[in-house]
Formats: sequence, C-alpha cells, structure tokens
Amino acid sequence: MEHLITRTIDLQHGNPDEKRKEIRDYFLKTWEIDEKLYTQLKSDDIFYHRGDPLRHVILFYLGHTAVFYINKLMLAKMIDTRINPEFESIFAIGVDEMSWDDLNEKHYNWPQVSAVREYRNKAKDLILSVIDNAPLSMPVTWNQPFWIIMMGIEHQRIHLETSSVLIRQLPLNEVIAGRFGERCPESGSAPENELITVTGAKVMLGKPENHPFYGWDNEYGKYEEHVEDFRASKYLISNGEYLKFIHDGGYQTEEYWTEEGWNWRNFKEAEMPLFWRKNGEDYILRLVAEEIPMPWNWPAEVNYLEAKAFANWKTKTTGKIHRLPTEAEWYRLHEAAGLKDVTDWQKAPGNINLEYCTSPCPVDKFKQGDFYDVVGNVWQWTETPITGYPGFKVHPLYDDFSTPTFDGKHNLIKGGSWISTGNEATSHARYAFRRHFYQHAGFRLVESAHPLVIQSNEYETDQEVTLSCESNWGDSFIAAPIFSKVLARLVKDVAGDNRTLRLLDLNGDSGRLAFELAQYYDDVTALDFTARMIRIPIQLQEQGFMRYVMKDEGELQFFRDVVLSDYGLESGKNNILFMQADAMNLKPLYSGYDIIVVPNLLEELNNPILFLKKIHERLNNNGLLVIASTYEWDDTITTRENWPGGFKQDGEPVTSLDGIKQILSEKFDIFGDPIDLNIYQKLSSRISVHKISQVTFWKKR
Ligand SMILES: [Fe+2]
Repeated sequence: MEHLITRTIDLQHGNPDEKRKEIRDYFLKTWEIDEKLYTQLKSDDIFYHRGDPLRHVILFYLGHTAVFYINKLMLAKMIDTRINPEFESIFAIGVDEMSWDDLNEKHYNWPQVSAVREYRNKAKDLILSVIDNAPLSMPVTWNQPFWIIMMGIEHQRIHLETSSVLIRQLPLNEVIAGRFGERCPESGSAPENELITVTGAKVMLGKPENHPFYGWDNEYGKYEEHVEDFRASKYLISNGEYLKFIHDGGYQTEEYWTEEGWNWRNFKEAEMPLFWRKNGEDYILRLVAEEIPMPWNWPAEVNYLEAKAFANWKTKTTGKIHRLPTEAEWYRLHEAAGLKDVTDWQKAPGNINLEYCTSPCPVDKFKQGDFYDVVGNVWQWTETPITGYPGFKVHPLYDDFSTPTFDGKHNLIKGGSWISTGNEATSHARYAFRRHFYQHAGFRLVESAHPLVIQSNEYETDQEVTLSCESNWGDSFIAAPIFSKVLARLVKDVAGDNRTLRLLDLNGDSGRLAFELAQYYDDVTALDFTARMIRIPIQLQEQGFMRYVMKDEGELQFFRDVVLSDYGLESGKNNILFMQADAMNLKPLYSGYDIIVVPNLLEELNNPILFLKKIHERLNNNGLLVIASTYEWDDTITTRENWPGGFKQDGEPVTSLDGIKQILSEKFDIFGDPIDLNIYQKLSSRISVHKISQVTFWKKR
C-alpha cells in the first residue's frame, strides 16, 4: 500500500499545471484503492449480498462511487452526455446512506458485475479527460469546476471506509483476508487506563472559506465555545476494559442505558459489540476479512449507545460523572496533544490514512502528547449531535450531504480511523452517524463535573416564524428594501438622533426592526406576543446567529443561516431588551418611553381601539408614537365593532386613518404626512406578497 499513501490536496497554493497533475494523481490512487477494497470479496456473487440489512447490496457501492462523479459533473455542466442513464439512476438512489432507508430490493434489478466494471472503466476515462481539460485556476474554491472533481474523489474515499464496514459484516466465508494490506500483528493484554486533566480554554470551531483543503459544507462557519477543565482517558477504551462492563452485566442492566440505547439493545438482543464473537470461553474479533483471537489491547469498537452505557456504568461504579467528549473537547485534546493537520505530517502521527496497517492496533502504540490515539486507530464517538456552524451554507451541487443529518439524531465522530484518508483524515472532518450505527469507531471517556451542554441549534421550521424571518433577514428582492430597515431610518429622521431617548417596539417579531433601531438608540425594549417568535431575536442577541428552513420551489427547501455581524448589527445588540408581552395588557414596567413604535400590530390585535385609547399611558409627554399599518382588518382576529375604520358609517366611508385620528386626538397631534412603505413578505424563493404599510407620526401633548 506504500505507493498509495496520499494526502488531501492544498487547493489554495501552487500553480495550475502542477495542481492539475497533483489532482490527477490523487484521483488515480483513490480509484486504485477503491478497486483494491473489493478484491476482498471471494467471488462476484458476493456483490449481491448485503453486509447490513439496512444498506444496499455491495454492488451498489461499486457502481455508486463512479456514478456519483458523472452525476455531479452533469449537474455542474462539466460534461453534457451521460454514459449510461440507467446506471446513473439506479446507483444514485439511496445516496442518503446516513439514514435508515427502508430498502425494498424488489425496486432494484441489479445488473451484472461485469457491466458495472465496464461502466467504471468508461467513467474513469471520462473523468480523466475532464481532469485534463477542465479550466483550472488557483485557488480552487467551492464554486469552481475542480471542486466538483475533488468532491467526487473525497466522496469515493468516504465510501472506501463505509464499504469496508459493510464488508466486515459479510459472512467470513465470503471474504478473503490479506488482499487489502497487512493487519496489525501486535496484540496483548490491555494496558491500565487513567484519566489525565485537560485545562479548559476557548475553542474555535469551524473552517474558514479560504482553508486550503477540500471541505464538506458542514465544516464551514465559525463557532466559539468555552471548554471547561475536564479529565480524559489516556487511551481509547480497550477491548479488555470493555469486557469488564460486559462481565458486570452491562448488557443486562437497563439503568446504564439511555432509552434509545435500551430499545436498541432489546431489539438486537445484543450481548456484546457487533464484531465480537464468542467461542466457548474465548472471545474472537471479526476484522474486515478475517477473525482473530480477541486483541485485548485494541480499542473496543462499539456504537454510541454502547459507549454511553459504558460511561454510565463507570459513573455508577465510581460515583464520578463519566461521559464521552463533546466535539469542542475533542478539539481541546487535539490542541493539547500538539497535533498538526494532514499536509504538515511527515508521517502520520497515528494509525490513520492507511499509513501503518489495515486494522486497528493497540491503544498504547501511538503516543500524541500525554494521550494516545487522539487521531487515528478508530473514530471516537462524541456527545455532540451534528448541526451546521453559524454561517452554514449548503453546497448547491450536493444539497443533501449534511442537512438530513441535522436532526439531533446523528452524533459526530472525530479523530479518524486506520482507513480514514483524504478529507476524513483532516482535523476539520465532521462525519456523523445515527447513534446505533457501526463504523470503525470506539470511544474515549471523559470525567467532568460540569454539566453537559449540547447546543442543538436546530433549524426553525415553524412557518409563521420562518416567513417573518425571511421577510426580515432574507435576501431582499431587487429594488425592494427591507421594511424594518426603512422604518427604523424614518423613526430616527423624525425623532432625531438623541441616543438617550427610550424606545419601545411593540411588535418585536423576528427582531430586525429592534436591531436596526438599536443602531440609533441605547435603550430599546422590543416585545412580542409569542415566545415562539421572540426566541429568534434572543438567540441572535445571545449567540449571534439563527437559522431556519424556507420553501424554495415545489418540494425543495433551502436552509438559511443568519449571522448578525453580516448585517453590521452586532454593535447595538446589547441596547435591546427582548421580552414576551401582550401589547393589549402590558405590565406597568413598560412605561416612560420617549418613542413607541407600533409596526403592523394594530391589525393583529383583538381590540385596536382600546389599545389606541390607552397607549398614551406608556409615553412621556412630548413623546412620539409611530404607527405603521396596512389597515387590513380581519374579523377572525378583530371583531367588526373594534375596527377603528375601514367601513361606512351613516352611508359615508370612514377610513382607518380617520378613525385612528379621532381616537388619538384626545391626547395626540398628528404631524407630517403619512408615508407609505412597501413590505414584501416572502413566501418562497420566488413568491412574495406585496403589502403597503402606512406610517403616521403622533406627538403626545
Ligand atoms: Fe454516497
């Protein structure tokens, strides 16, 4: 395998001709390793077997890695003819390999292995001709043609690893050992593990856009987390250590397991890890293509649910809280171990990148700082369910790589395994699997007195909320400025820019108006009727970002990440107090304001007349009341007798403005002319409702 050792490519530096050659070589080697992996199958018949009942037959993956390139090159318009439309359909289906696909094999009429091999050869030639001829300029960034080539290569490398896990699940008599490199020959009893203190620090997560390596969309963005002090196990948990949990009735004791874990255990009737076998009193370990006597000093390979049960058992037996590391804690370990990233390695610092062997190895073999195997050997489960970092954007040519896993049910694995190559071997790599899934993954224990805080940051899907978010924070249609921004400016022009004026916004909504007003005023209170809505601006204020899903077109959706600093609104954010409150029934504390803004709120109240009669109580003398309204009264919200206007009285029309004037005249004088502002309420990427809101200004006497 020596000649097949590669490192992912630096896409920022170097000249185009050299880079083209480098990528060509990287592609060829990737292809060769991929082919070599399948030489471990005893015959072509085995391609029609399934390693895992929830996954496709092995043949799918042989076709899939080739088809993926062609489909992406078509999508990117880098080629204009397909090789085999039928293959390019059947080997594309089920690419969401990260979820439980209920695979009905009746839907698949798998072709001959020889036909798939022939297809692969044609695909390889076509990809090579694209590599030789497609435009390449440096740096290669994610909207350039060569990014798509890299996407195909890195995708193939992911499947190298996931397919090896599937081959590991085939019956032993269907596979041949020794054809895919050498397994580690060292085996012995488990070393005594210990916990080592790691001091807390601020950890920056997320990869900058100009990072030299290819990255999947979920790696980009910026997220800062303060990690408290913790203790982490020196070694990964070894088979020997894990055996104690088994012997102590670990798989029979419900209290050690999460509910999800216990359900899984019962469903599978699991008594030990998936790759363990028992022969009389002896334990045996299944590797990809062979079985060996249990190497007690190798890492225990388990799913998250088992790792978590082990940690809970430790908590129970030691009285100290044990768990797995979070994603941020893993980065602290990486830092503490003084590890560099892939292209700075002379030789890999651990059992990774296929640089040493084609199996796990003893947990005390690769020392990295005070620890062992912070990278390499087997992946390490974390407590952190994957989600995008603030600023996350979907790559348009692979829109379902990450977002289906942003559901709180897929936990991150970090560190890479012996077969993690390319992007998988970089420190920014973020792969996540369902918690019951098996990869070449084990775990490290963490002991910490600090409560485990998991930021879930899921995407808002509540439609009423997301529509408001998109209208306020989404891309504006051409020549259609954001209503809230324009209104804030108008308020400032009329009220003047005395920063000490106290301002009340009675329709906080998704917060845009308040953040805009806080650029001009130091004391802004923004209230909204529902907690559902107000938590959006509160998240923006506290965490600097929020996210939601919007309709794109048809069944397509898009994911929007809003980062406050991108709008230049960070500086005033602490001037705002966001609270949930009912504008019709305000607490006494919401008084003494110099400016009250009532943006598109009257039409949402059950009694706007009563509201208008009482609003002066909240305003200082000479204070300014700003009303913006579409005067669109809906009698399911506002019963007819509570409309201020918009009807005929004694045969004559009474406009809403006339009605409001009459109500307010007792305490207020209107000044200036009403001003009409456009609102484009977006319903999807291409559809919006256009409303015209009338803004009027009233001075309290
Ligand atoms: Fe795939």
